[in-house]
Amino acid sequence: MLERAEQIAPPAGLNCPSEEKMSIDLNLPLSVEYKEGKLYFLDQTQLPNHLQIDEQTTVEQVWDSIKKLKVRGAPALGVAGGYGLLVGLRGFLNLSPEAFITKVEEVAKYLEGCRPTAVNLGWALRRQVKKAKSLAGKSAKEVFAALEQEAIAIHQEDIACCEAIGRYGAPLIQDGMGVLTHCNAGHLAVSKLGTALSPMYTAFSEGRRFKVYADETRPLLQGARLTAWELKQAGLDVTLICDNMASFMMNSGAINLVIVGADRVTANGDAVNKIGTSGVAILAKYYNIPFYVACPYSTIDLSTPSGKEVEIEERDAEEVTFFGAKRTGPEGIQVRNPAFDATPNHLIHGIITEKGLIKPPFKENLQTLFG
Ligand code: MRU
Repeated sequence: MLERAEQIAPPAGLNCPSEEKMSIDLNLPLSVEYKEGKLYFLDQTQLPNHLQIDEQTTVEQVWDSIKKLKVRGAPALGVAGGYGLLVGLRGFLNLSPEAFITKVEEVAKYLEGCRPTAVNLGWALRRQVKKAKSLAGKSAKEVFAALEQEAIAIHQEDIACCEAIGRYGAPLIQDGMGVLTHCNAGHLAVSKLGTALSPMYTAFSEGRRFKVYADETRPLLQGARLTAWELKQAGLDVTLICDNMASFMMNSGAINLVIVGADRVTANGDAVNKIGTSGVAILAKYYNIPFYVACPYSTIDLSTPSGKEVEIEERDAEEVTFFGAKRTGPEGIQVRNPAFDATPNHLIHGIITEKGLIKPPFKENLQTLFG
């Protein structure tokens, strides 16, 4: 299922360790697609049972799709936000130049408020607002055309970042290894290939054979429904485990490496990711297993000092008291449902980015590369 295609240039910055630079075709549907001025999301809530692609015709629909996790994963949220803004602006091309810029700010603010934790959504929308403001005085149609180009650029940059993350992370994976991941930081969570899964796809395409273990990731099962599905579709050797089995698997010697994605990496290198990630990192430390985070620059937030300052999205109680359509907790029970947690930097061996593998001290090294 993995095919080699055209040669691509190595990323700027550090040396690219892989000898061969290649583009990998996973033959998987795209989570976000913009075609002939129309925006489409693959509805990830329907996976692995149905492949349903929905056109997004209003900005309220885009907001709802993001809120309900039809489109999810930090970089995909950035790409969706960049294009989603266009959906919200299309009906206002007759506004005056000033009124149109005000509208851009208004729609961006509306979309940004949808999910607070992943930095990419706000990052992409702020980039769009900045672009619009740089064109003050131009007609609404001209500004809209520039925003469309900017959204396409955000999308293309994300693809290039994921390919580079794959090349930098792949050397960590050797024949016969067991690699654990949590949640879905794969092709479905980005524009192509993924962040945490990109090193796996790349190592596989380079001929190495290894096992991947996917945590199911309660409460919404991104690991089971999405990670296990996409890896299996691509032909990798993937085994699904419940979240509470990670310690057993590590103790048994099945797992030699952990790679996860991130929704926000703060200035000190703390990594905010799907709830349960910090528990996996603590286990990895206990069993002496290297724990890596993979993410693009758009996920690195140097303006937030540490994970303690990141707003953690709290989601509906029903996600915990129901398993699918079946109630599994008593009616009226008190519930907590934080969607993310912060893994402290001292548990992280390295951060795999499109500019290279960043080692501690993260504060200094992140500042040097991305500041
Ligand atoms: O709530 P989700 O499904 O959007 O959470 C996604 C994650 O936590 C991912 O691991 C993270 O966004 C990295 S995606 C490359």
